[in-house]
Amino acid sequence: MNGMKVKIDPDDLYIVSGTVHPKLAEETVKAMGLTLGPLNTKRFANSELYVQYDASVRGKHVIIIQTFAHDYKRNLSVNDALMETMLLIDAARRSSAREITVVIPYLGYSRQDRKAKGREPISAAVVTHMLESAGAHRLVTIDMHSPQVQGTFRGPFDHLIAERLILEGLREEMADRDPELFAIVSPDTGRAKESERAADILGVRLRHLQKTRDRHDSSKLVRPKRLQGVEGRICIMTDDMIDTAGTLLTAAETLRKSGATGVIASATHALLSDPALDRLQDTAIDKLIVTDTVPVDYARKVLGDRLVVLPVAPLIADALREIATGGSVSDLFGGRNYF
Ligand code: R5P
Repeated sequence: MNGMKVKIDPDDLYIVSGTVHPKLAEETVKAMGLTLGPLNTKRFANSELYVQYDASVRGKHVIIIQTFAHDYKRNLSVNDALMETMLLIDAARRSSAREITVVIPYLGYSRQDRKAKGREPISAAVVTHMLESAGAHRLVTIDMHSPQVQGTFRGPFDHLIAERLILEGLREEMADRDPELFAIVSPDTGRAKESERAADILGVRLRHLQKTRDRHDSSKLVRPKRLQGVEGRICIMTDDMIDTAGTLLTAAETLRKSGATGVIASATHALLSDPALDRLQDTAIDKLIVTDTVPVDYARKVLGDRLVVLPVAPLIADALREIATGGSVSDLFGGRNYF
């Protein structure tokens, strides 16, 4: 492209927000210097959903922004988010949209990425197959639990990583203190690679903490009693998501028992499902650093300044700019978004 920046053609795009997280979609289009396209959504008395584009999408590149989060307060489930997205894709396809991109900052069902037991579904594949059969051409997501889920969708699937954001947040917490005062702790084997990378970039020692499940009750997490090498240090953990907070809290308890003087936890997706917020009050975690891939306003109220929220709208906006102008998404991450 001769180094020339190609400009977005606003008339070529029709960007809409699903009902789950409109604030994120608004901030994203604002960062692109655009506005959201008009859309009607409603829910019928029996809970079925309805959508309608309120202007022509013929020949346009329709971009649907919808995170697959639940919202107890508004009685929205992950399945509502998924179903609404399916309806938005279908409506765009039947209205002659040229291209359909679906941005799903938090890709629900992505933890069920393989058959771990007999007679189970691979739910992550079910979701991507549904999106593809409805007519989605391209998917975009952030910090997917299992990047190999990309293989279950036949179109382009852009994986954005919030690593830079999170590391900046952590650096701020470290506040120029000696890296020797800290330790990065991988909260389970699934996070080993990312934790190694964070330790390397921050110049902090790395420790791995084992996580297993109780043989009789798989909902119960089992941690070793102690972890060597964290005594007198502030421990930092990074995870892809914090759901019920069991993973990070059980880890934090072991770290405290092992002599850690502080615990900072970070996660890209702050799902914070019940009983996470109750558990997080008055606990072993001093600071929780998350992004806003899902709505976090209520969590902010409950946790106050113990919760640091890093906005992902600029990250999504940069990726959409590249996509809309035929640029490169992986260049935004120096090609390191595929680990
Ligand atoms: C597990 O493999 C994931 O990376 C997260 O650690 C986990 O899903 C977090 O869930 P919870 O907060 O309920 O422990």
